[in-house]
Amino acid sequence: MSIADAEIKPVAPPAIRVRLAGPRDSDALCDLLDDPKHAREQVMTWLANPAMTLLVAQSELGVLGVAVLVTRIVPRPEGSIHKVVEVDNLVVRADQRGRRIGRRLLAAAVEWSRQRRAVQVEAFVGDVNRDAKRFYESFGFAKSSDRLVLAA
Ligand SMILES: CC(C)(COP(=O)(O)OP(=O)(O)OC[C@H]1O[C@@H](n2cnc3c(N)ncnc32)[C@H](O)[C@@H]1OP(=O)(O)O)[C@@H](O)C(=O)NCCC(=O)NCCS
Repeated sequence: MSIADAEIKPVAPPAIRVRLAGPRDSDALCDLLDDPKHAREQVMTWLANPAMTLLVAQSELGVLGVAVLVTRIVPRPEGSIHKVVEVDNLVVRADQRGRRIGRRLLAAAVEWSRQRRAVQVEAFVGDVNRDAKRFYESFGFAKSSDRLVLAA
């Protein structure tokens, strides 16, 4: 095989399974995050919050990514409620990006939300994070403008 052939050959997605994370995953979760100084506190906050669910992509190499989900119960004007799941964070290990791990985690997050009868899955991405915006849009997420914000 020539070097040119090797360059265009797509890298096969690794064999992964998506599972719920627990306290035993805390070291692996810390390793996924960019900011080692605050990683432990961040991971502990996620794991301790009963409204948060962590799905991890597990391979034989270890934990390759995490989706952090927050479930909210939203009152409706007519008196009913509905459930919304927000993707608070989704991170794939830096050396494994571009191998469809993020997409598979997001698909698992959407499936998890459907099974819990959520009506909507949301993700908030800052304008500066264009790559993440493209990632969500390529999955089918669309912009919604019904959120008002104030700097605190
Ligand atoms: C965003 C992120 C989760 C994507 O994970 P990934 O495993 O690399 O993404 P995938 O390989 O599953 O990509 C799926 C699709 O998303 C889009 N996409 C992914 N990364 C992209 C990038 N850097 N730029 C543009 N589009 C991108 C592509 O359309 C891609 O489809 P394709 O493979 O057919 O081109 C990963 O890059 C990451 O961890 N980034 C840092 C943390 C972050 O910004 N998280 C999102 C905000 S919470």
